[in-house]
Amino acid sequence: MKKLAILASGSGSNAEKIMEHFQNSTKAKVALVASNKADAFVLERAKKFGVPAFTFTRKEMDAGLLLQKLQEEKIDWVILAGFLLKIPEDLIRAFPDHMVNIHPALLPKYGGKGMYGSLVHEAVKAAGDTETGITIHLVNEHYDEGKIIFQAAASVTPEDTPDTIAEKVHALEHRYFPEVIESLL
Ligand code: GAR
Repeated sequence: MKKLAILASGSGSNAEKIMEHFQNSTKAKVALVASNKADAFVLERAKKFGVPAFTFTRKEMDAGLLLQKLQEEKIDWVILAGFLLKIPEDLIRAFPDHMVNIHPALLPKYGGKGMYGSLVHEAVKAAGDTETGITIHLVNEHYDEGKIIFQAAASVTPEDTPDTIAEKVHALEHRYFPEVIESLL
């Protein structure tokens, strides 16, 4: 049984889909939800699924506390689901090819520092793009540049707003992220 840890900073709708997906799995279980925000809604969702939660500050993460927790819990895979801090390099190196991120755009477009959540959808709208989508990739030392494992696209119409674009992207994320994680295990 593989042990997954989900790192999330916000609402955690993706985390919820992943916990749901692996709830009765014989292959993997979500063993930990970790957040840098003590009031993130993802922590409520973890409670609902009986998954242990762990919160930490950026300073604690940079000092190695999160890595220590993941090692203590014998985590096999680290899943970033709306985690908005830059991961320290020693943490990345501790999970070679075993750390996965979801990005709400078709990388390499709209990647890099400062490109997250609604800012991405606003940029897609401002550029007048006719499509956007999701990218699931491995995490390496360079922001949003790890090996791409999966992408799916959605069309963007002139009527779309950043909010409706976000809805389309979330729908793709919820549909594909859990099964792409399963295919990696
Ligand atoms: C998701 O859309 C995810 O792709 C994005 O944050 C959202 C979290 O939603 N991640 C990034 O922008 C990372 N650069 P959720 O909390 O409802 O799962």
